[in-house]
Amino acid sequence: MKVLITFFSYTGNTRKVAESLASVLNEKVDVDLEEIQPTRHQPYLYWLILSFIPKLRTPIKPPKANPSQYDLVCLGLPKWTVSCPPINQYLKEVNLRGKTLGLFITYGGFDERRYLKQMIKLLNKKGARVKATLLLKRRWIKEGKAAEHIRRYCNALLES
Ligand SMILES: Cc1cc2nc3c(=O)[nH]c(=O)nc-3n(C[C@H](O)[C@H](O)[C@H](O)COP(=O)(O)O)c2cc1C
Repeated sequence: MKVLITFFSYTGNTRKVAESLASVLNEKVDVDLEEIQPTRHQPYLYWLILSFIPKLRTPIKPPKANPSQYDLVCLGLPKWTVSCPPINQYLKEVNLRGKTLGLFITYGGFDERRYLKQMIKLLNKKGARVKATLLLKRRWIKEGKAAEHIRRYCNALLES
């Protein structure tokens, strides 16, 4: 089984989760990691303003991995007010039709459930099926309290 973990991270929390996820999954399956990267680095205020515009996209570096070559794709992103432009662009560029997905979202502390539901709806519209989800609060990641959540999420991803 081949798994692609593809993620965007601005301040490093989602990257940390993606890397932990990769090391847990690696015990059982082949894992590739792909980081979604905007073509230009922008300051917090710039992203904050853009994040309020629904469905807005922003240029990203060309993705290297093709999701169609994987049995499972795990998409990771931070919760950004209304939407996350680099993720919107990624979802425009890759084809996830027919794919089974895992979704993981890191957040500061509010409105994460609505955002998760919105992402699931968007991914379903693109023809993907979301098998397992993980919401991780920034504080849990920083305090090293995410490991058990990640392990449970991995089990849910791999169960048949
Ligand atoms: C532009 C921007 C908007 C954000 N909006 C929210 C929000 O609406 N709700 C929330 O709980 N956290 C919000 N956050 C906090 C991030 O979701 C949180 O810090 C996350 O773990 C960041 O992930 P990263 O380090 O991988 O970029 C926002 C952060 C940024 C930069």
